[in-house]
Amino acid sequence: MPDVTPNRLYFGDNLDILREQIADASVDLIYLDPPFNSNVNYNALFREQGGEQSAAQITAFEDTWHWGPESEAAYRGVVTDGPRRWSDLLQSLRAFLGANDMMAYLTMMAPRLAELHRVLKPAGSIYLHCDPTASHYLKLMMDAIFEPRNFCNEIIWHYRKWPAGRYAFQRNHDVILFYSRSPSRERTFNQLYMERAASTRQRFGNAKIVSGRDASGRRAPSQVETRESQGVRQDDVWPIPRVAPAQQLFPTQKPETLLERIITASSDEGDLVLDPFCGGGTATVAAERLNRRWIGIDVTHLAMSLIRHRLHYSFGSDLRPYAVAGVPQDTASAAALAAHDRCQFEWWAVSLVDARPNNDRRKGADGGIDGIINFFDDDGGKAKRVAVQVKSGSVSRGAVAQLKTDLQTAGAEIGIFITLNPPTGPMRQEAASAGFYTPEHFPGHQYPRLQIMTIDELLSGKVAQYPRYAPPSTFRRAPRRTRTLGQQSGLV
Ligand SMILES: C[S@@+](CC[C@H](N)C(=O)[O-])C[C@H]1O[C@@H](n2cnc3c(N)ncnc32)[C@H](O)[C@@H]1O
Repeated sequence: MPDVTPNRLYFGDNLDILREQIADASVDLIYLDPPFNSNVNYNALFREQGGEQSAAQITAFEDTWHWGPESEAAYRGVVTDGPRRWSDLLQSLRAFLGANDMMAYLTMMAPRLAELHRVLKPAGSIYLHCDPTASHYLKLMMDAIFEPRNFCNEIIWHYRKWPAGRYAFQRNHDVILFYSRSPSRERTFNQLYMERAASTRQRFGNAKIVSGRDASGRRAPSQVETRESQGVRQDDVWPIPRVAPAQQLFPTQKPETLLERIITASSDEGDLVLDPFCGGGTATVAAERLNRRWIGIDVTHLAMSLIRHRLHYSFGSDLRPYAVAGVPQDTASAAALAAHDRCQFEWWAVSLVDARPNNDRRKGADGGIDGIINFFDDDGGKAKRVAVQVKSGSVSRGAVAQLKTDLQTAGAEIGIFITLNPPTGPMRQEAASAGFYTPEHFPGHQYPRLQIMTIDELLSGKVAQYPRYAPPSTFRRAPRRTRTLGQQSGLV
């Protein structure tokens, strides 16, 4: 098995990466937030395969699983090869649920949880983020894999959101199942503290309270030490605001405060944190900030591209070196990606010029533009745009001419035409005929309005030309972060 050199981002299915790349007992802390679309009609998830409405409702970035040959194969794999108690549990769940979407989801999770158990160090911990739609089934699976004696907490992440549904109480929490690999004394755990209640503060100030007995012999906080207290021990209900939609870099992005709390409690500086469903990279950013080593895995180039920008934007020159694995390194592997999945190829290609992807699978292409770079070259506060178009097939002069027109529709100053295949002479002439963009406040500076760049050139380090007088605002800016040294526990 290859030596894993953190910090590292892996593109790919986490089951393959875990099996092929991550050694036994090598990880100190795992946080996983597997996609699960709990906003869909609850009943739709429990409809047997064949209920057409169900498939149509469950769309959010392909974040649920439907029962099919893949689920059947994964199910049989666990039932035949897994330890007896996992096999028994999965069979019982299938007898109860049938072959529906929930069962497909649980079947997908089973081999992944088993791999996560394998890679966790004896003193390590795992936090499984889910919601009440599936948490009770997942807890059974965690009990089967990690053992009930290693269950530590069911953490309630409490937040507020817009009210929905009038015939039940508002659902305002997620569930985080915290297990360790070994019983309590052996696990890494740094006690955290929270502020004491206002009434307690009023009565005892910050003094440490030691329990005693009152006149009738009942236990009471009667003795007060003068030494300053750290607060009260952190409990398992965590009120932390959600990331406001306007601030989100990624759908379903979790708050950094939440991840920082988990990482501070269950790891020490230098420890290795793994997030196998890393999405927008909240766990990697929090681990970087808290001086932990980290590994992130995701199966979309969109997520990979966003995480990379978030890390660079958040830490700038303080960012420690990290490796990226599984992304195309040459024209041949780029062509293979394009042949396999054009959409993923486009997300990856636009990331080569630091552009934000401009379309998603549900909405379809947006006016022929695949990526956008925002830039500033004046004090006006309104960003100007570079529009990026990606082509993986045959290209012609007409396509470049079309981009010229699309630039106007998109309100972009500059266009970048990324092509897998080399451009022809007439294409270059067409691009040259678009002339130059000259920023009003920098009259001597000129940028070609239409730039053709091949994948080969981009992989060799060629960069797009546009004004870079201020930090580009391509991605909604991640707040600037500083890395902390020596922070372990404390008031959170
Ligand atoms: C709910 S999001 C994670 C959000 C993340 N916690 C954050 O704060 O930004 C789940 C992510 O898991 C990824 N994913 C789904 N299936 C995967 C798989 N089999 N292997 C790796 N990543 C996967 C999705 O692409 C998505 O980005």
